[in-house]
Amino acid sequence: MWDIVLESIRAGIIALMLFYIWQIGKERGLNMQKGWRFIIYGWSFILFGSVLDITDNFESLNWLIVVGDTETEAFLEKFVGLLVGYVLLFIGFLFWLPAGARKIESIKREFVSTASHELRTPLTAIYGSIKLVASGKLGEMPSKAKETLDIALRNSERLTLLVNDILDIEKLESGKMEFDLKPQKIIKLLNEAIEANSYYGEKYKVHYILSQDSVSGMINVDANRFMQIMNNLLSNAAKFSPENSTVEIKVTRQKEHLRVTVKDKGMGIEEEFHPLIFEKFSQADSTDSRHSGGTGLGLAISKQLVEQMGGKIGFTTTVGSGTYFYFDLPEV
Ligand SMILES: Nc1ncnc2c1ncn2[C@@H]1O[C@H](COP(=O)(O)OP(=O)(O)O)[C@@H](O)[C@H]1O
Ligand SMILES: [Mg+2]
Repeated sequence: MWDIVLESIRAGIIALMLFYIWQIGKERGLNMQKGWRFIIYGWSFILFGSVLDITDNFESLNWLIVVGDTETEAFLEKFVGLLVGYVLLFIGFLFWLPAGARKIESIKREFVSTASHELRTPLTAIYGSIKLVASGKLGEMPSKAKETLDIALRNSERLTLLVNDILDIEKLESGKMEFDLKPQKIIKLLNEAIEANSYYGEKYKVHYILSQDSVSGMINVDANRFMQIMNNLLSNAAKFSPENSTVEIKVTRQKEHLRVTVKDKGMGIEEEFHPLIFEKFSQADSTDSRHSGGTGLGLAISKQLVEQMGGKIGFTTTVGSGTYFYFDLPEV
C-alpha cells in the first residue's frame, strides 16, 4: 500500500517538474534549442519509468502496458524509463549548459553596449557645453568657478574616453569591428603616430624617437586602428617613464611580419602582473597620480586589434629599468 502512495507521489513530482521545465522553455523560447529538448525528452522517459513502477502494484493492469510479461516490463521500466531518461538528460545538459552560458554572455554584452551607446550622446553634449563655457567664449568667469569647471571638463573627457573604449572592446569581442585593411608604409604611419602623441610626450616630459636603424616596408593594416594601438603604447610608455627619458620606436623584420617595438626606460612591470596585463580593466597601480587617467582597457583593445589584423603582441620587461612592447603585423 505504502509503495503505491510513495511511487505515486514520486510520479506526481516528476510530472510537475516536467510541466515546469516545459513552461519555462516555452516562456523563454528555449524549447527549440537542441539541449533543452533533450532535457524534456529525458525527463519524460524518467516519468514513463516511474509510472510503470506504479503499475507493478496492479497485476490486473499489467496487460495495459506489456501483456503479462514482467521481464519485458522490468526492461522498459529500468532500462528505457530510467537509464535512457538519465542519459538523455545528461546529453541535454551537455548541450544546453554552454549554449545557455553563451546566451547569458551575449545578453550581458548587449546590455553594456546599449547602455554605452545611450550614454555617449548626452555625454558628448555635456562635454561640448562644458568645453565651450570653460574656453571663456561665452564671457569671463570668476577664477574659482573656472577651477571647478576645469575639473568637470577633465572628468567628462575621461568619461567619454571610457565609454568609447567600452564600445570598442564590445565590438571587438563580438567580432563586429570592421577593418579597412590597406597596404601602408610603416615608417609614415609611425611618424604620424609620434606627431599625434607629441603633446602627450610634452605633458610627461618624455621624448619619442624613431630609431634610425628601423627597416622600411609596407604592412597590411587599417590606418586608424594602427594609430589606436600606437596611441596606447606611446601613452603608456610616457606615463610609466621618468621625466626627461626617451622612448624609442623601432621597426624590425620578422619572417612574414614587420615588428614595431616601443621601448621605454620606465619602472617595468612586476612579475605577478604579467598574466593580467592584457586583461580588461587591469592596472598594476591606479592610485599613483602620474599614471592615473587610464581605463585599463588600452592593452586589451590593442591585443584584439593586433590579433584581428593578423598579428600578435607581446612584451619583455625588467623591473626598475624598462619595458619593450612589440607587435607584429603582416608585411606586404
Ligand atoms: N610601458 C609600461 N610600463 C609599465 N607598466 C605598464 C606599461 N604599459 C602598461 N603598463 C601596465 O599595464 C596596465 C594596463 O595598461 P592599459 O591597458 O594601457 O591601461 P591604462 O593605460 O588605461 O592604465 C597599466 O595600468 C600599467 O599598470
Ligand atoms: Mg593605456
